[in-house]
Amino acid sequence: MHHPSFVFDLPIKSHFQTQWQAPSNIALVKYWGKHGQQLPKNPSISFTLSHCLTTTSVHFSPRKDGSPHFDFKFDQKKQPDFHPKIQQFLERIQPYFPALAQHHLSISSRNSFPHSSGIASSASAMAALALCIVDFEKQHHPNWTEEDAQQKASFLARLGSGSAARSIVGPMMVWGTSKAFPGSNDLYAVAPQPKWHPIFNNYQDTILLVDKDAKKVSSTAGHGLMEGHPFAEQRFAQAHRNMELLKQALTAGDLATFIACTEAEALSLHAMMMTSDPSFLLMKPNTLAILQKVRDFRTASGTPLCFTLDAGANVHILYPEQDRIPAMEFIKYEFTDFCHKGAFITDQVGEGAKKVID
Ligand code: PMV
Repeated sequence: MHHPSFVFDLPIKSHFQTQWQAPSNIALVKYWGKHGQQLPKNPSISFTLSHCLTTTSVHFSPRKDGSPHFDFKFDQKKQPDFHPKIQQFLERIQPYFPALAQHHLSISSRNSFPHSSGIASSASAMAALALCIVDFEKQHHPNWTEEDAQQKASFLARLGSGSAARSIVGPMMVWGTSKAFPGSNDLYAVAPQPKWHPIFNNYQDTILLVDKDAKKVSSTAGHGLMEGHPFAEQRFAQAHRNMELLKQALTAGDLATFIACTEAEALSLHAMMMTSDPSFLLMKPNTLAILQKVRDFRTASGTPLCFTLDAGANVHILYPEQDRIPAMEFIKYEFTDFCHKGAFITDQVGEGAKKVID
């Protein structure tokens, strides 16, 4: 693979149809702050999920040269609301795949999780679309290895949504240069393969839907808050340290360190938003009540549950598969009333995106 440009400019013009399913991911060390063309200010690491998925099919058909051209359906219905985001994505990736200019893309997408549930779908959506585009490109690149294709897909997905770079393979992905992970870089995410401790196999993620409203701060505006933020440099240094600590915890099966780091990262992300200008309070009272109850239950029962958060009010509760019964009993008993329509989503660490063969 010839990065950094990843440019592929063979003049291809053909019909091609493909379909890919890409998972969402949940960051343990959070990406918050970007520069240049979607480059992260700090490294991040995430669990690849397995049930929260976007499935996207694309039909490429030749057309006269021009700017990116597409039609889009979500759940089999036309969805013009999504057009600007897709248009921007295709424009950004066109320099890295100029043949896009000679094709019309007919895109059709669906999510396995409820739309507008407050669960971010940009990671799985951008990854699934990027994988379809790379699959097309791959037909004309017979020498590409599976890894080359994954790198390019991650590289393109990043240009749609930073965290989408980490929605390609499992069980964990690292994006952004980190001393702890040789080969990690800012352009695309990698799936390091040290011997992760088996306690993290099928690690569980129960997502509590505390608030289903649309995000109060867009992702780009959110990352922008780190520019000139009084604590920015300390925050980026902290993320680097937590990458090292988490790597040790994930390979040694050190749950105490895993829990301490994961929760500290979630709280730092929200602390950054609370102390930026303008500032954002994205937790709801129920979010905070859940965080406290998770800690109390852990102390009282010894069950190694911990929480993490995205840039919103919903809570992800993480725990080993072997603790599923007490954890789910606790979650159902304590949190059903806190969640919108009593809803939560049970997910777990997964293996990554797949091509869907009809
Ligand atoms: O991918 P974006 O630009 O939506 O940013 C996502 C940022 C967080 O979800 C808050 C953290 C992360 O690393 O996923």
